[in-house]
Amino acid sequence: MSVDARTASNRVLEARERYVSRGVATPALVVARAQGARIWDVDGREYLDFAGGIACQNLGHGPASVVRAIHEQADRYLHQCFMVGAYEPYVEVCRRLSELWPGAAQTKSLLVNSGAEAIENAVKIARAATGRPAVVVFDRAFHGRTTLTMAMTSKLVYKRGFGPLAPEVYRAPAPYPYRGVSTDDALRGLELLLKQDVDPASVACVVLEPVQGEGGFIPMPPEFVQALRRICDEHGILYVDDEVQAGCGRTGTIWAIERLGVEPDLLVSGKTLGGGLPLAAVTGRAELMDAVHPGGLGGTFGGNPLSCAAALAVLDELTAPGFAERAEHVAALLRRRLEEIATRQPLVGEVRGLGAMLALELREQSPDAAKATTAAALEKGLLVLACGLYGNVIRLLPPLSATDEELERGLELLEEALGDASAG
Ligand SMILES: Cc1ncc(COP(=O)(O)O)c(C=O)c1O
Repeated sequence: MSVDARTASNRVLEARERYVSRGVATPALVVARAQGARIWDVDGREYLDFAGGIACQNLGHGPASVVRAIHEQADRYLHQCFMVGAYEPYVEVCRRLSELWPGAAQTKSLLVNSGAEAIENAVKIARAATGRPAVVVFDRAFHGRTTLTMAMTSKLVYKRGFGPLAPEVYRAPAPYPYRGVSTDDALRGLELLLKQDVDPASVACVVLEPVQGEGGFIPMPPEFVQALRRICDEHGILYVDDEVQAGCGRTGTIWAIERLGVEPDLLVSGKTLGGGLPLAAVTGRAELMDAVHPGGLGGTFGGNPLSCAAALAVLDELTAPGFAERAEHVAALLRRRLEEIATRQPLVGEVRGLGAMLALELREQSPDAAKATTAAALEKGLLVLACGLYGNVIRLLPPLSATDEELERGLELLEEALGDASAG
């Protein structure tokens, strides 16, 4: 592509340099419009989107029913603040989340704007309900970028220079079989933590992603999650399930934890829940959610009407007949093709994931090859993201509504990009 043909992108990127904090990292992609699995940039170039705005587009860009629901809600009212004037879409989202609870408990919900805000509130609720201060998180965890959640998050880039970190956050190992950490190793590490560093009687909650997302798309083994549940029960610790990235149908069930044989005490959802609008939720056993005094939770925009209207349409789509089957089909297609790619591309060390939450871990624990791959993919018209503590994991988050042809084409481009990265 000639330099001239990219002037529209360049103009925006130059202004971005001038006016936007460099603390927000952006690739050289300037979006003009998006539909389904495709994005067009301001220079008219088309991309396949296997990033989904980081896991927010399990239904693809602009699903008709979600867009319609937003328009209809925009014509009724935009904002009320649920603490000033109650409105039905908020209550209805909470009712739907109760119906979708992965277990037998009767539940209630709180709606907020972002995953990090929801995690913060889950910790507040756990502390209020138990009267205990401490929180246990895990290696490679990502729970957000706010002051509390950056302490819970594991990667230095999210906290370097931003301290002091919030107190009473303790980190335990999590299984990572590809790099030699078994379930037994992780459980021994947790046992040590509860002997050496923090009294289990002062732990309010553990917080775990059922498939670690930013940490490298590492599925937690069912036996680890089940053992963790037993340890929580033994010590009166609450189990908080962070489904912000793994939830909303990505792994084939609405919540990934449904595949792990455990009922959490609190479940945090976000990203795809709002269908592209900001919305996140804490759902949990009613007596825990009600342990907080009135006024202790909330926020001006939390659960705003547009996001709630979008979420109701999203939840209709996720629970529609055939959706789970489609997610399984996408998962099988991706996995089969990734396994083939792994046999041909020497950079690739492991294919892993759960359902359609799949990734390739590159052998070298350095970000270079993954960066080269994602950059080459972008040049070829595929948007794909890296993740992992070492930045060496390439994760796939295509819409579950993508056609087989789009998925196949994206994987072809990914393989070409891996080839370029290993040649370069
Ligand atoms: C598992 C998990 N929890 C929490 C968050 C924070 O969500 P947000 O970026 O909406 O604050 C993320 C974001 O990527 C996430 O992946």
